[in-house]
Amino acid sequence: MNRTKPLSVHYRGITMPALVHSEQSVRYAQQDFIVRDRDVFNLTYPKSGTTWMQEILTLIHSDGDPTWSRSVPSWERVPWIEQITAAGYLEMRPCPRLISSHLPCSLFPKTFFTSQAKAIYMIRNPKDVCVSLYYYAKMSSFLEFKEDFGEFIDMFLAGKVLFGSWFDHVKGWLRLRDSKNVLLLTYEDLLKDLQGSVTRICQFLGKDLPDPAIDSVVQNASFSTMKENKMVNYTLVPESIMDQKVSPFLRKGISGDWKNHFTPEQSAQFDQFYQEQMREVDVKFSWDTS
Ligand code: A3P
Repeated sequence: MNRTKPLSVHYRGITMPALVHSEQSVRYAQQDFIVRDRDVFNLTYPKSGTTWMQEILTLIHSDGDPTWSRSVPSWERVPWIEQITAAGYLEMRPCPRLISSHLPCSLFPKTFFTSQAKAIYMIRNPKDVCVSLYYYAKMSSFLEFKEDFGEFIDMFLAGKVLFGSWFDHVKGWLRLRDSKNVLLLTYEDLLKDLQGSVTRICQFLGKDLPDPAIDSVVQNASFSTMKENKMVNYTLVPESIMDQKVSPFLRKGISGDWKNHFTPEQSAQFDQFYQEQMREVDVKFSWDTS
């Protein structure tokens, strides 16, 4: 990899990996991308289950048939609007288009807010996001990494990681949670009840799938099946960019792994920061009590 090229692109206070973003690509997403009424968005802060939702949406779209998810890479099926490849993948695509984004609400395409497009925003326990991001940064040649986990937590809390502060991202999108076009889900909901979550997503999308199709979505979006599917496990990406010997992209797929990484002091410091930041938010999450 050419190390003289900057690792990151900065756009309106948000940092993104330069490998797949440019200032123009993010400006295109925010200012020029025309959202269509039948578009379906998969919105997440990084490491919150984006890839999982890409797989679920693909399979629902295909009525449970796994052919598309086994033959085309996930980033092409449900591409990110802010990435350099977005226009090429999306402009000619028939509706309903499946689209991912890590953009904060403040940088989202303007046309979304006046459209009938649907968006699923998935949130994950930020301590698990922090751990997942730590390993992702460690295995990626295109991200800032701090070997010392305590220092990495500081970077995370300060929002000095890709796509900025988890807290700003979540608080921004949560403001839209009462909109009929937005479905709020947690990664932990999906882990607890994937079948029920897929059914909820189908209802939200107005997609009436028979039980065998729902079963196929659940089976093909399971962690073990996705780990074996090279169209979603990122083994198509060269080792010089993502070294899965350092850490697999689909790493553990569980909740609560933070308990294996945070010291009691780090956990208390994180909790205090979380409480200060989330004071204004009146939604309670499963991790608020654990
Ligand atoms: P871990 O690193 O904790 O294992 P993203 O797609 O937003 O980058 O998120 C990646 C995280 O989602 C990783 O978490 C990954 O293992 C997890 N994940 C992806 N598919 C999953 C699935 N089918 N079941 C559970 N977790 C999944």
